[in-house]
Amino acid sequence: MPDESRETQSRKIEHIDIVLNKETQYRSKTTLFECIEVLPGGQRINGDDVDVSTALLGRRIAAPIFISGMTGGHPATYEINKNIAIAASRIGIPMGVGSQRAMYEKQDLAYTYDVKKVAGDLILIGNMGATKLLKYDNRKIQEMLDLINADMLALHTNPAQESVQPEGDIDFRGVYSRICEVGKGIRQPVILKEVGNGISKEVAKKVDGKVYAIDVQGAGGTTWVGVETYRSRGAYGSAFWEWGIPTALSVLESKSAFHGPVWASGGIRTPSDIVKAVAIGADMSGMAKPVLVSERKNGAEGVYRYLDRLIADFRNETGSLGFSSIEELKNAKIRISEPLASLLEQRGAAPKNLEDRKLFETA
Ligand SMILES: Cc1cc2nc3c(=O)[nH]c(=O)nc-3n(C[C@H](O)[C@H](O)[C@H](O)COP(=O)(O)O)c2cc1C
Repeated sequence: MPDESRETQSRKIEHIDIVLNKETQYRSKTTLFECIEVLPGGQRINGDDVDVSTALLGRRIAAPIFISGMTGGHPATYEINKNIAIAASRIGIPMGVGSQRAMYEKQDLAYTYDVKKVAGDLILIGNMGATKLLKYDNRKIQEMLDLINADMLALHTNPAQESVQPEGDIDFRGVYSRICEVGKGIRQPVILKEVGNGISKEVAKKVDGKVYAIDVQGAGGTTWVGVETYRSRGAYGSAFWEWGIPTALSVLESKSAFHGPVWASGGIRTPSDIVKAVAIGADMSGMAKPVLVSERKNGAEGVYRYLDRLIADFRNETGSLGFSSIEELKNAKIRISEPLASLLEQRGAAPKNLEDRKLFETA
């Protein structure tokens, strides 16, 4: 086995151990969803009468919720991906796998990502690091997606993480034009994602019309600068622990510059976060760490119970606000308070009149 492959594999296990056993959440920075208030739309509706299903890739999914890509690439990670896949397909929501770099380096490891065998109707999101695209051609990328039967591809940009990772790849020159080429050059829809530091409106603009969606993966949840700070034993990174664009701000910034779907993720923890994400225009909301924790505690059943409860609570909360569907919730009136309101002004991404939902449609 080449050394690079061994290193990639052991890093995947270290990441899981650190996320589960160390404090890896942002300390003072939050998602800023607490600055968003969704105004009731009408009379309270019983949760059982609320339909939170939505459409993705022409298919109906149970809720606008997905599981963010986390793992694969080491034999021990197959069980995690398999359990998450079983639960996700039972519930009817999509899931992502972690970076497919390990299977690029060693094709025998493809099985650790290949979970559709146990969850046939699952919408599966492949994953690659954006800097790696400079080395992989479109034919190879297509092959890696087809090997696991992926329906979509998430390309992650993670400059903050790479810059504090002991073996990080910090040369991002040319990355965005390569992302745009891949976005147009492979069969599956491409999603540009971060890993917890958020997408700015400048980046959103660069990929507008070139990729299918943006998954902001903003600040306020798991910090990958934090994870890598542990790996480097504090040699790098602690100064940037809080660095990143809060998730709610990143969603609104991205929506001001990108005309495709925008997904909210990074620190999504409660049904209220999801209600607010929908109301500010996010098409999907995703979580990583809470799903990993429930999988490690109780396997596929643990993930299923966690998601089932989350979706039931999301339905109840949507109904309590007087909305009976995702479409209605998307049109809810919202109020944005400080500091998010000022940050949106500073970034030139503030909707001028929050009563006018059309303002979210174009910059
Ligand atoms: C154990 C673990 C491994 C991860 N590995 C990847 C990865 O390989 N590729 C990727 O794009 N994101 C990866 N992520 C980042 C998540 O997709 C997500 O962006 C981040 O954890 C923020 O979401 P959270 O606050 O819900 O945890 C990983 C997250 C976790 C918890």
